[in-house]
Amino acid sequence: MERKVHIMQNFTYWNPTKLIFGKDQLEQLKKEVPLYGKKVLVVYGGGSIKRSGLYDKVINLLNEIDAQVYELPGVEPNPRITTARKGVEICKSEGIDLLLAVGGGSVIDCTKLIAAGAKYDGDAWDLVIRKAAVTEALPFGTVLTLAATGSEMNSGSVITNWETNEKYGWGSPFTFPKFSILDPVHTFSVPRDQTIYGIVDMMSHVLEHYFHLEENTLFQDRMCESLLITVMETAPKLLENLESYEHRATILYSGTMALNGILNMGYRGDWATHNLEHAVSAVYDIPHGGGLAILFPHWMKHNLKVKPERFKQLAVRVFGVDPEGKSAEEAGLEGIQKLREYWNSIGAPAHLADYNIDDSKIELMADRAMVYGEFGNFAKLNREDVISIYRESL
Ligand code: NZQ
Ligand code: ZN
Repeated sequence: MERKVHIMQNFTYWNPTKLIFGKDQLEQLKKEVPLYGKKVLVVYGGGSIKRSGLYDKVINLLNEIDAQVYELPGVEPNPRITTARKGVEICKSEGIDLLLAVGGGSVIDCTKLIAAGAKYDGDAWDLVIRKAAVTEALPFGTVLTLAATGSEMNSGSVITNWETNEKYGWGSPFTFPKFSILDPVHTFSVPRDQTIYGIVDMMSHVLEHYFHLEENTLFQDRMCESLLITVMETAPKLLENLESYEHRATILYSGTMALNGILNMGYRGDWATHNLEHAVSAVYDIPHGGGLAILFPHWMKHNLKVKPERFKQLAVRVFGVDPEGKSAEEAGLEGIQKLREYWNSIGAPAHLADYNIDDSKIELMADRAMVYGEFGNFAKLNREDVISIYRESL
């Protein structure tokens, strides 16, 4: 019989985003923007940047370098295709040179689709549903205001079509930001609930990586564990003082590192829980991090038996579970319970009912989750699995 040898998968790591981190780094816009041209479309959300004063600062800096400024306000949390279409229209009619996203993951994700849509001769939704491939995109930069998605340093984007209750992730090598400016001060005004969702989201990205089937990922495991421990130690301190530069900086940096490709070289994480969550927020407009906090522990329990040793390792190394006298499954389960308790302790939601979601649309959510067939790289989920995880989460 052939001996099974577990090695890391071959990989190429490529991340072209210039990361500009720290206090007062917004000034760097004056150096970065002119590299790409004069006509700048500033994309932002529902008004938080106006309230915080960031909007004025960005516009003043752009004026200082004589940029020609266009604006697309009103990007929704869970950004919609209708808004991206408006942005594409502006890019095409005005001949925009560079897009500048100022906001959280939603604003950045919308900007990514606008950038790709501007170079596509058709409806941008085609790019999201993979009816057409992205072959080009306008350059874009970001000024991040919320630590959560990692979108500031990756090429992925998640877009919602509210008319059809669809929400899908897509991405391309052309949709990495050219630069991203991360000043922890820009995240001071993030409200408590959004701060919590962001923390859950970045932890979930690490957990998605962590559940994979390769064996020889010793360093990668330790990096993932380190990020989880760091975030878990910092979050309660940050929630005590939302304007702590020190803790905002730790969380901001962690969020970027959780999903910029650094942690997952040589293996593929699971990513089923993200798919499950996107299907929920396609049908109910709930925050992504809130949905993950509800679903992830149930995904874990559902798949504990696939590789109990993996759950045990997480439980022991991250959640301090004492494995003495316990099976891998028992120790693993204790770890899952500790994750649940931790998320409860910082105020994350635990049940779909917290968002008034009952079982009436479970079939529709399952349809959306199953759109590309069975999914999950650590454990394949079929429709029955999906429905069972949703039911457990009610
Ligand atoms: O719209 P404004 O007024 O700016 O308010 C936003 C929004 O209401 C507010 N906010 C952002 N920065 C703020 C602030 N309020 C006060 N002060 C600030 N500094 O926070 C609210 C949520 O913003 P949003 O951008 O929606 O949050 P997040 O960054 O969590 O992004 C969520 C979206 O990203 C997708 C999610 O599915 C969801 O659609 N994801 C994107 C990923 C990616 N591109 O890699 C991966 C993720 O797993 C995720 O799926
Ligand atoms: Zn996420």
